[in-house]
Amino acid sequence: MEIKSELDKRISEIEKILEKYLPREEGYQKTIFEAMNYSVRAGGKRLRPMLMQETYRLFGGNSKAIEPFMAAIEMIHTYSLVHDDLPAMDNDLYRRGKKTTHAVYGEAMGILAGDALLNFAYETAAASFLLEPQNPNIGKAFLVLTKKAGVYGMVGGQTVDVESEGEKVDAGKLYFIYRLKTSALLESAMVVGAVLAGADENQQRVIESVAGLVGLAFQIQDDILDETSTLEVLGKPIGSDKKNNKSTYVSLFGLEASQKEVAKLTLKAMEELQGLSLKNEFLGELLLYLIHREK
Ligand code: IPE
Ligand code: IPE
Ligand code: MG
Ligand code: MG
Ligand code: MG
Repeated sequence: MEIKSELDKRISEIEKILEKYLPREEGYQKTIFEAMNYSVRAGGKRLRPMLMQETYRLFGGNSKAIEPFMAAIEMIHTYSLVHDDLPAMDNDLYRRGKKTTHAVYGEAMGILAGDALLNFAYETAAASFLLEPQNPNIGKAFLVLTKKAGVYGMVGGQTVDVESEGEKVDAGKLYFIYRLKTSALLESAMVVGAVLAGADENQQRVIESVAGLVGLAFQIQDDILDETSTLEVLGKPIGSDKKNNKSTYVSLFGLEASQKEVAKLTLKAMEELQGLSLKNEFLGELLLYLIHREK
């Protein structure tokens, strides 16, 4: 399988779905629509909707009810990035190869664009109740989506991340931060895909664990790239973690140990996934690809 061309194919499929759900830029509040669309259209790997769709396919899902959820998870993720880049947080000026939202539209619009994307994500996902009013899995998936983004998930992780700046955190606290700030949205993506496809509770638990491990590996790789990449390749500034005095896996254990940990966590995730005895060749290839990703 040529992973790069398969990735491109899926990204364009996902972006077509996203476009269907983005707001029209009109009315007195036009600026907020422009700032939302600017942030979402800037690009990125579209990993969360991709994982959602591939997990859905893994369990044999084949309805359009997944599409609003795919758009919603990318909106939530994009909002988390818009706020993460704000001056009060990581204070970064580039994202996805473009100026950050607050750098283009000002800080107030940066805050509002994040708020707007989060709210719009829930409006978008809620519309799937109308697509299939008899489908009990939609309510379950909606709860997963909302919970993993919030104080028990991404927002909780960002809270501890910001509060721990300047502190040398221990491995336990570091993994707590990573599980929440990063794994939670990957868990959301994959568990929503599983739930909507009708996976049973045990299968959902396996998928949540796989996504949790992938999320940890993904964040460590992100920390590695923050030290070893370039703005041109990464599309966001390098050295952001040092600038903000963050403890990262790399700052605590060094680059080599970090690379080993990324591979170890990913292989553990692959093993757990294979335990399900279901087949999705692309999903396995995608997880392996992420170990050596350059952006
Ligand atoms: C960046 O996520 C934030 C982290 C959790 C490390 P991605 O690396 O998936 O960002 P995009 O969507 O490709 O821009
Ligand atoms: C942020 O982690 C994860 C989010 C929830 C946005 P980082 O602060 O390391 O993400 P980047 O490096 O800015 O993408
Ligand atoms: Mg951050
Ligand atoms: Mg950041
Ligand atoms: Mg980072």
